[in-house]
Amino acid sequence: MAEPYAIDVHLGPADLEAAMREDVLRGLTATPKRLPPKWHYDPHGSALFDEITRLPEYYLTRCERAILGAHAGDIAREAQAGTLIELGSGTSAKTRLLLSAMAAAGTLERFVPFDVDEATLRAAAAAVVAEYPGVAVHAVVGDFERHLHLLPGGGTRMVAFLGSTIGNLDPAVRARFLADLSDTLVGGDRLLLGVDLVKAPERILAAYDDPGGITAAFSRNVLRVLNDRLGADFDPDAFDHVARWDAEHEWVDIRLRSQRAQVARVAALDLEVRFAAGEDVHTEIAAKFRRDRIAGELRGRGLEVERWWTDPGEGFGMALARRI
Ligand code: SAH
Ligand code: TRP
Repeated sequence: MAEPYAIDVHLGPADLEAAMREDVLRGLTATPKRLPPKWHYDPHGSALFDEITRLPEYYLTRCERAILGAHAGDIAREAQAGTLIELGSGTSAKTRLLLSAMAAAGTLERFVPFDVDEATLRAAAAAVVAEYPGVAVHAVVGDFERHLHLLPGGGTRMVAFLGSTIGNLDPAVRARFLADLSDTLVGGDRLLLGVDLVKAPERILAAYDDPGGITAAFSRNVLRVLNDRLGADFDPDAFDHVARWDAEHEWVDIRLRSQRAQVARVAALDLEVRFAAGEDVHTEIAAKFRRDRIAGELRGRGLEVERWWTDPGEGFGMALARRI
């Protein structure tokens, strides 16, 4: 039977493997070694991330849900959007609050979840179809660093980018991403952006290194993905998850640290990767924001913040912006 939702696949298995090969070849032959954040997310990685969102230490999801719980109605009335696009949608769990508010405001016609992890995206799309009869669901498998110009158009749209995923992009990538995003917004289209805020480093770091090791398992998952997809033979358990606060940049610096001298082979690249004992692979940053700084970055790309909300504890912020 045909799926009850439309789906565009801009990153099928072959494209995904090609993109991964390029990133891994460049990143693991560089000094220092690095791997981009998007390859953490296969079905196992997405399931681990979903577990992270329920950890007591991971305040981000609860704070962002509190903002949406209090203000989704305002957001829906302000945006007057027929289409909700969600970048890096994952399970779209919190997004139900937005969908329900837009349905209550009488504007919701279409939902466009967009993610690199096709399996998780399909499951979320099917669930939304079942929960919101009458709403068209048009899923997009793609890389938001490359495929924003392929987003479906038509009507007034609101592009939601939640979970502070924007903080995982390196500054140069983030600048390009915001430029691309700004280019795709037309007429009354809005951006709804969720960002984690600068606060006591202890509280931030606890969210990126839980005692039960779920975050460490998520962090190491990128090596399992390379084993799966590129026929590599990394031993994920021979790497420690390291998260530290970089006060200068105001971001969490996340790495995998080789416990010992070791060699891994990546069959698809015919590549041998040598690690010294204690050598790091940079896997991710999680940048934290201040209102003025993110508003300034958006303004630099022609996007004006019209509304700004935080949760009562001011842990997390949400901006509603439009093109000037
Ligand atoms: N929005 C959800 C999930 C955040 S986790 C929340 O707020 O809880 C980040 C999500 O972005 C994952 O689902 C991951 O698969 C997706 N993602 C990461 N990099 C991506 C990229 N370059 N292009 C598209 N999706 C990406
Ligand atoms: N967008 C999430 C964040 O910045 C991604 C994330 C959560 C993450 N926990 C992590 C990335 C641990 C690497 C390691 O909070």
